[in-house]
Amino acid sequence: MTTLRALPPHCRDEAIARAAATLRAGGLVALPTETVYGLAANARDPRAVAKVFAAKGRPADHPLIVHLASTEQVADWARAVPGCVRDLARHYWPGPLTLVLKRAPGVPDVVTGGQDTVALRLPAHPVAQALLQAFGDGLCAPSANRFGRISPTTARHVREELGDAVDLVLDGGPCSVGIESTIVDLSGGRPRLLRPGAVPADRLAALLGERLLPARADTPRTPGNLPAHYAPRTPLQLLAHELLHERHPLPALALAVLSRERPDWPCEWLPAPATAREYARVLYRRLREADALGVDAILVESPPAERDWEAVRDRLMRAAHAHAGHIRPGAWSAGAAAPLPAAPAVARRIA
Ligand code: TXA
Ligand code: MG
Repeated sequence: MTTLRALPPHCRDEAIARAAATLRAGGLVALPTETVYGLAANARDPRAVAKVFAAKGRPADHPLIVHLASTEQVADWARAVPGCVRDLARHYWPGPLTLVLKRAPGVPDVVTGGQDTVALRLPAHPVAQALLQAFGDGLCAPSANRFGRISPTTARHVREELGDAVDLVLDGGPCSVGIESTIVDLSGGRPRLLRPGAVPADRLAALLGERLLPARADTPRTPGNLPAHYAPRTPLQLLAHELLHERHPLPALALAVLSRERPDWPCEWLPAPATAREYARVLYRRLREADALGVDAILVESPPAERDWEAVRDRLMRAAHAHAGHIRPGAWSAGAAAPLPAAPAVARRIA
């Protein structure tokens, strides 16, 4: 695996040419997007796409997002495209919005998981745009992490996650958004929000003139929709703000705490940003740092219940849920409930 710096711009041309050649030869390239790093393959080449699934350890029937350079390419991948796509594209593409549409004939089954729909996105990162333009067709690119784990937001994270399973890593610096794109399904009657992200659902609803339906609980093959996803290795639990200033909630455990204020009890403290945008930008990096500390559990102060925190809340809920198996209910003191749907309490027992 080789890493090539693709920023600043004078490093870019050669790196992009090599990456495009690698993709044409059926190889895998990790590329920076504004959301998270993606693991890209030629979306027209089923053998290359199969390598993406193998590298990630992702079940074969989970569909991938196809990344495009321009809105003109939408017609190559989707059919029966509703008129609202033009408005959404004008406002939010290139950017962190993915649209699920009816798939065009000829889109490989391996990309769509055999479904009748395809997910499309135009990323805004200049390196992703340059590569898509040089390549000239769609690149499928799931987040460049092992299945179920935290998405990478730097080139180093990609190398740590995937090692030699990826042929080339394009280093475009840290991702500016930090969490994955908003996904809206426009393939059925009413629009559905499949995954909250940087583009807020209420803005999309205002533009579409109707409220977005929630993802159906039985939506199949949508890993971001599994309750347990985006998880560090260390058990993670949400913590109500008040508990930062009460007695130590789990005195028998070594804890890392991600919170806006420093807790009054001993722990490894990771300061959390105050705005949703900045929080999203650093969230996965902080969770990786917390994982590396070797603590027994990570506690994360429950984020505000406000709408612009929806995507951050979603990721934290899933990270907490992933460790439900490790959890001993009743580890928390009375009144400890977080102001979020209850995530089970962490208490991996120390020997
Ligand atoms: O920000 C992002 O979207 C990043 C960057 C790299 O672009 N990509 C990303 O890909 O998060 P991935 O594969 O980790 O998540 C894509 C999500 C999955 O939950 C997948 O199941 C869903 O999109 N998806 C893909 N095609 C779909 C389809 N046809 N119908 C419903 N969901 C789909
Ligand atoms: Mg992912």
